[in-house]
Order: sequence, then structure tokens, then C-alpha cells
Amino acid sequence: AGRALVTGCSSGIGLAVVTALLGQGWHVTGISRREPPIRAPGYRHIPADLSDSAAADSAFEAAGPVDAAVHAAGVLRVGDHQGMDMQDGALMWRLHVDVAARMIQTLAPRMADGGRFVLIGSRIAKGAPGRSLYAASKAALNGLARSCAAELAPRGITVNIVAPGATDTPMLRDPARADVAPKLPPLGRFVQPGEVAAMVAYLLSPPAASITGQEIVICGGASL
Ligand code: NAI
Repeated sequence: AGRALVTGCSSGIGLAVVTALLGQGWHVTGISRREPPIRAPGYRHIPADLSDSAAADSAFEAAGPVDAAVHAAGVLRVGDHQGMDMQDGALMWRLHVDVAARMIQTLAPRMADGGRFVLIGSRIAKGAPGRSLYAASKAALNGLARSCAAELAPRGITVNIVAPGATDTPMLRDPARADVAPKLPPLGRFVQPGEVAAMVAYLLSPPAASITGQEIVICGGASL
């Protein structure tokens, strides 16, 4: 355990990651617009709207140096292929890809050798109807993560993606995605945020030192 940064920590997967890491003795700095309901001595919050590039840069400057950073902030804006909304697409690109790149660019130079990055991707990065721009932004994370993993490998720093399928968070219940009602995966239940968080915590732990540039899918069998 050491110092970790978690974006998108006010609910869902990010909040579960913060809780898991605090439970393992990490000191955690969280970044999101709203402060999460966490009152632990090891927790510090930096409020920021990460869709604003300047605000994202100053939040990462204020957070570092850290031993690990997890990018969980994200939004799902939907639209069928013909109705794709380019403004929503630009927001998702900024929040998912641009913020991940800024996070790695700002924090890696100040990170000790052996540090860790985890980006929260999505099972549907490979594509899903009505999700084209969301899927595209999540797919881009793979190129980013694999490139950065290769660049940072000489310093023992790993970069991985955890890609959940439908996970029981406020995003799953978002009326904006009511166009396609969430379907239970073959295992018969939605993924729980704590299950995603446990994988993230593992990737930050010493036995995961040889895993880098990988996408680990947690989807209840939906991709089978
Ligand atoms: P959520 O809506 O509960 O959490 C999203 C987090 O991002 C919140 O903490 C929110 O404050 C933060 N956030 C959103 N816009 C922000 C902004 N402009 N500036 C700062 N923070 C901002 O949703 P959930 O499910 O926990 O999502 C976390 C990640 O998991 C996202 O990247 C999402 O794309 C991904 N994901 C979620 C799935 C699901 O079924 N819930 C499935 C696959 C991926």
C-alpha cells in the first residue's frame, strides 16, 4: 500500500475502488465533482470537473506524487448511429481518453519505479448498437494503455484496463440509457462495483507486477 489517486470517486465503481484501497491501508486522493460520503483519515478530496482540461491538469498537479492512479470517471451518453451527438462524443472523448492521457502524462514522471495505472474501460469497447461514440472512446483507451505500458515498462510501471460489463451503479440505472434496458448476463446477475474494485486493487498489489498492457474483462459472461 502507498498513495493512490482515484478519479470519479463520488459513486459507483470509483467509490468502491476508494473503499477497497482504504481498507487495504492505502492513502487515497479522490477527484470528482462531488465529494463522496467517505470520512476516513487516509482520504483527501480534490473537487474538479474533469471535462475541463485546465481543471483536470491542476487537479493532477495537486494530487501527485502518487504510487498508483485509477481513472474511473466516465459518462454514458447514448444515441443510435444516425442520431450520434457529436457534442456528447467530444465530452466522452475528453473525459475518458484525454483525462486518462493527462493523468499518465502528469503523474508518471513523478511516480517512483514500480508504480501502477489502471483505466476503467468497458466490455462494449468492441462496439454495441446505440453506443457508438461511447464504445469508440472506450476502445481508444486500449491503444493508449498498450502504448503507455510499453513506454513505462523499463521503469517497472504497469498500465492496465479493467473493462466491466453491466455493473450495478447509478450509471446502469441512468434514464439516459433506458433505450436499451440493461440485460442480465449469462451468470444471471449484474457485476457488483466491489468486484470491479477488487480487480483494480489486485492490479495495484505486488503480485500483479508482471501484468501490463492488458484488458481484463469482468462481465458475467456477457462476452461469451
Ligand atoms: P457512476 O455514474 O456511478 O460514476 C461515474 C463517476 O464519474 C462519478 O464519480 C462522477 O462524479 C464522475 N464524473 C462524471 N463526470 C465527471 C466530470 N465531468 N468530472 C469529474 N468527475 C466526473 O458510474 P460507474 O458505473 O461507476 O462508472 C465508472 C466507470 O465505469 C465509467 O468510466 C464507466 O464508463 C465505466 N463502466 C461502467 C459500466 C456500468 O455498467 N456501470 C460498464 C462499463 C464501464
